[in-house]
Amino acid sequence: MLGHADEVFVFGAEQAVHVRALAASCAVCHGTLGNAVVPAGARSADDSNPVLAGRTRDDLLEKLLGFRDGSRQATIMHQHSRGLSLIEIEWLAKHFSEQLPVIRLPVTPQKLEASHD
Ligand code: HEC
Repeated sequence: MLGHADEVFVFGAEQAVHVRALAASCAVCHGTLGNAVVPAGARSADDSNPVLAGRTRDDLLEKLLGFRDGSRQATIMHQHSRGLSLIEIEWLAKHFSEQLPVIRLPVTPQKLEASHD
């Protein structure tokens, strides 16, 4: 499938379960379905937990392969990509590229005023 990124394929039942189990291990940092809780519009590697939802499959694929072979700089993604097979990386790239990005407004700190009268 590599090199034919514009070919359309749909996950079979077993593939769908496998890719969801893998994606769940990414959710702790990248958010459920790839929507990490980061300021709106923040999508770069400079952000601690980048949003993966809605990125192109090729972009995700290239980054994951770079993390896996060590050619792309990372703090922790080397560890998280090294155990993945090539096909798993392709599936994860497809999976996250198909998720819809959710635009969140940054949470502003609130000042609570309590009165004990
Ligand atoms: C412990 C937190 C953590 C987990 C778990 C994790 N990531 Fe990451 N991810 C990061 C951080 C932090 C970065 C930024 C690069 C770096 O510092 O390693 C990143 C970067 C990325 C990028 C590049 C995004 C960009 O804009 O450059 C991709 C793609 C990615 N992760 C995919 C995944 C996938 C797929 C999984 C699950 C197999 C996963 N990550 C698991 C924290 C995590």
